[in-house]
Amino acid sequence: MPVTLKACYTVKPIETTWCGRVSLSEWDQTGNVTHVPIIYFYRTPSQESNNNSIASTLKDSLSRVLVPFYPLAGRLHWINNGRLELDCNAMGVQFIEAESSSSFEDLGDDFSPSSEYNYLVPTVDYTLPIHGLPLVLIQLTNFKCGGVSIGITLSHAVVDGPSASHFISEWARLARGEPLQTVPFHDRKVLHAGDPPSVPLARCHSHTEFDEPPLLLGKTDNTEERKKKTAMVILKLSKTQVETLKKTANYGGYGNDSYSRYEAIAGHIWRSACKARGHKEDQPTTLTVIVDSRSRMEPPLPKGYFGNATLDTVATSLAGDLVSKPLGYACSRIREAIERVTDEYVRTGIEFLKNQEDLSRFQDLYAIGSEKGPFYGNPNLGVVSWLTLPIYGVDFGWGKEVYMGPGTHDFDGDSLLLPGPDGEGSVLLALCLQVPHMDTFKKHFYQDINVSESCQD
Ligand code: COA
Repeated sequence: MPVTLKACYTVKPIETTWCGRVSLSEWDQTGNVTHVPIIYFYRTPSQESNNNSIASTLKDSLSRVLVPFYPLAGRLHWINNGRLELDCNAMGVQFIEAESSSSFEDLGDDFSPSSEYNYLVPTVDYTLPIHGLPLVLIQLTNFKCGGVSIGITLSHAVVDGPSASHFISEWARLARGEPLQTVPFHDRKVLHAGDPPSVPLARCHSHTEFDEPPLLLGKTDNTEERKKKTAMVILKLSKTQVETLKKTANYGGYGNDSYSRYEAIAGHIWRSACKARGHKEDQPTTLTVIVDSRSRMEPPLPKGYFGNATLDTVATSLAGDLVSKPLGYACSRIREAIERVTDEYVRTGIEFLKNQEDLSRFQDLYAIGSEKGPFYGNPNLGVVSWLTLPIYGVDFGWGKEVYMGPGTHDFDGDSLLLPGPDGEGSVLLALCLQVPHMDTFKKHFYQDINVSESCQD
């Protein structure tokens, strides 16, 4: 897609903000510590003056929202042994203005993510020193059709999904001329940020999420799998298909509870992936769930907790069991993993990480361009839920978005569930798999829903 960069600004907080170094929590410094891209598309009138006013509205409100959200204007620093600290130094965020001679129609009817998105969301060069990288990078692109896209990429070492949506929705509120709704809570000490270990490793729970995930049978490492070419797709489930999956999950007698949409769909993705990857019956496989611990802590974390309070929990099974048993079986494995995340589990997980000599092996950054570091691809996968995050309806003053979606995620087995934009109960799956597995996955993903339904008749 032809995109011309017009200008690049550094936007700083409009007022003096607190400056100094703060410790990050263990959840900030592990897992995904790179930037996470998202994109919003808006239809707007196409006059040039309007484009200028959109840019100045966004920059002005950004400089104001960076006052309460001042950590985002700072920079990360390595301290020692793969540990990071946040320097709240008001260096600011990057704001790029760009122009595209394409129109929205060129992106396809449904704005499905493609490599084209790479021109619309700023990329981050991790070969540069980390203390030089902004934590937020934004690109406003004016399309010739009169629409704009706002590509945002935020450092996951500073915010998780709930905090990222908090920041974006408050930014939009200020741009609309409304006051801040929820003041962010910045004291990461509630998650023991910077504290030395207080519990010896031996007394920590068994935290399987930190173990190396299983390998393909017959392999001694995952070097080959890491190199395989991947593709990303967005697959839509209608409200009826979601309801069918939920009904099917709760039909086979696994567990007494009523499985949620997340559990039913994630279970179905897991089974479909096992089939698409052609696993043997005795192939061990895991599904990683990201759980928001805010309400699971005792007491719950303060309202507006700003940082990472999400952590991984891992469901395990043999592929043969997933495929041969009813969908409810996969859901029961997922439910068991989610239920493990209690206050004590969160605290012992933190202690486990505090007891580690070096955190590098738990960071995705370590895996970039390397054959080491976390890899959750074949035979494993992760299903992240954005189902309950307030990601839609972000109105900066010229109406709500026509489309919002993740930027490109290029890791085998990485997937994301979002509510369908119709607001009527459909669900979107953004999925990345190895290229040869994708078509078979799609076939099972759609066909097996109908098979499940007919089994219940
Ligand atoms: N608004 C609307 N509905 C909500 C809700 C909210 N804030 N919170 C929960 N619900 C609904 C859910 O949609 C679900 O109902 P459904 O079956 O109709 O979908 C039900 O209440 C149970 O929800 P929950 O207890 O959250 O379980 P789940 O199985 O749907 O999801 C997790 C499990 C672990 C994914 C979820 O609890 C969680 O932690 N989500 C946060 C994920 C996150 O932070 N993502 C960003 C990662 S960076």
